[in-house]
Amino acid sequence: MAKKRQVYIETYGCQMNLADTEVVLSILAGAGYGQTTSLRSADVVFVNTCAVRENAEQRVYGRLGDFRRYKKENPGMIVGVLGCMAERLRKDLMQSESHVDLVVGPDEYRRLPELIEGAINGERGIAVKLSRVENYDDILPLRTEGISAWISVMRGCDKFCTFCVVPFTRGRERSRSMESIVREVEHLGARGFKEVSLLGQNVNSYLDGQHDFSDLMAAVAHVDRSMRVRFTTSHPQDMSDKLLRTIAEQENICNYIHLPVQSGSDRILDLMNRTYTRGQYLSLVHKIRTMIPEISLSTDIIAGFPTETADDHHRTLDVIREVGFDGAFTFKYSPRENTKAWHMGDDVAEELKTERLNEIIDLQREISLQKNEAMINTACEVLVEGESTKSANDYCGRTDSNKMVVFPKGVCEIGQYLNVRIDRANSATLFGISLGASAREIGDPKLAANA
Ligand code: SAH
Ligand code: SF4
Ligand code: F3S
Repeated sequence: MAKKRQVYIETYGCQMNLADTEVVLSILAGAGYGQTTSLRSADVVFVNTCAVRENAEQRVYGRLGDFRRYKKENPGMIVGVLGCMAERLRKDLMQSESHVDLVVGPDEYRRLPELIEGAINGERGIAVKLSRVENYDDILPLRTEGISAWISVMRGCDKFCTFCVVPFTRGRERSRSMESIVREVEHLGARGFKEVSLLGQNVNSYLDGQHDFSDLMAAVAHVDRSMRVRFTTSHPQDMSDKLLRTIAEQENICNYIHLPVQSGSDRILDLMNRTYTRGQYLSLVHKIRTMIPEISLSTDIIAGFPTETADDHHRTLDVIREVGFDGAFTFKYSPRENTKAWHMGDDVAEELKTERLNEIIDLQREISLQKNEAMINTACEVLVEGESTKSANDYCGRTDSNKMVVFPKGVCEIGQYLNVRIDRANSATLFGISLGASAREIGDPKLAANA
């Protein structure tokens, strides 16, 4: 029998891309390809790319430079660019990178086996059509064994924030069927997965005809009560009361919402086309905390959007203080060609963007530290995920509220739920000691009460 051809794939960008890589691997496994983690022994090398900011693209160009050298040693090697950069740059990428054989956008992965065959026969291929229906609903992603799985439940984005390329690289919103998602979760439960994260650029605008996102969340939460359910990213506009009730009611849906605010200035929010004001965002946060008191909130913030003044920036700092986020992902504004904001110029100087970003980071670090220190001497339930990256004597895992906890290994195992007493904290991590298996691990009937 001929040796299987081996595929090597590197993934950049958001969790949707990680999920897509698993779809790509599944499609290729079906066509007889094996997977390798060694670039040198690969017959096909793919990079699944992100286009959201300039620096994400620069990193990929760097890697493509490395691949050029590997291809010199192994001229038969096929090099392909997948994902959002493929979709954004299309032919330009083919022209600027002469060693790239394939450029394939996120809705064309079913064609990969055929495109690779073509490339082996010397045809460079480009496939970048976006689809209104493709959601890979029938493809079971190829996942390595683990504790936690990503499930992409909807694709695309219709929001058109003026700074963002995603609506152009991912196309229009479309959702998978609830039945197939529930089947996938059942399958994961049977394989021993303990956590699923439902993914979408605007996951809470999920709609499969009969079911909205809260229906989907309730159905997924019922599959296996010992499985945690997470979801990301939620847009403030689509955060319905029904969804909040579902999060509050379903014990195994995590008390954690990632809710990007982007800016604290109404003028900037309007220019961004975020569709809410600062006041509306703050009332939403108030409602969330009233309905789900133990909720933990994180956010995304952009520093230096076109025309942002010192006053706008201070409003952003104020909103961070007022909400008291548990964590924040912070970015310097990066102009993206063809977006509306591209035409607004890029008038905040680089040094000023850096200064504002650093002020945001410092403030958030202070708040995160306070929140984490408040947990010292309390016990929290942790799902053991694996060895701590910093010490072979310790395990790490996350709380329901998505905080990382590190503790000595003791007798527990990966995949168990433990109670951990927190003894020490910094702004990013909690440190503690295991108090043994939690009620969920033991199978406490109270936790199954609403099953
Ligand atoms: N769909 C999600 C995430 C989109 S991308 C959402 O709506 O929040 C993740 C984050 O990248 C965004 O929330 C935003 O903060 C940031 N981002 C997107 N485009 C950007 C740009 N052009 N410059 C800087 N940051 C950007
Ligand atoms: Fe981009 Fe806005 Fe869509 Fe998020 S909601 S993916 S930031 S356009
Ligand atoms: Fe990047 Fe595309 Fe995700 S642009 S953030 S990989 S949807």
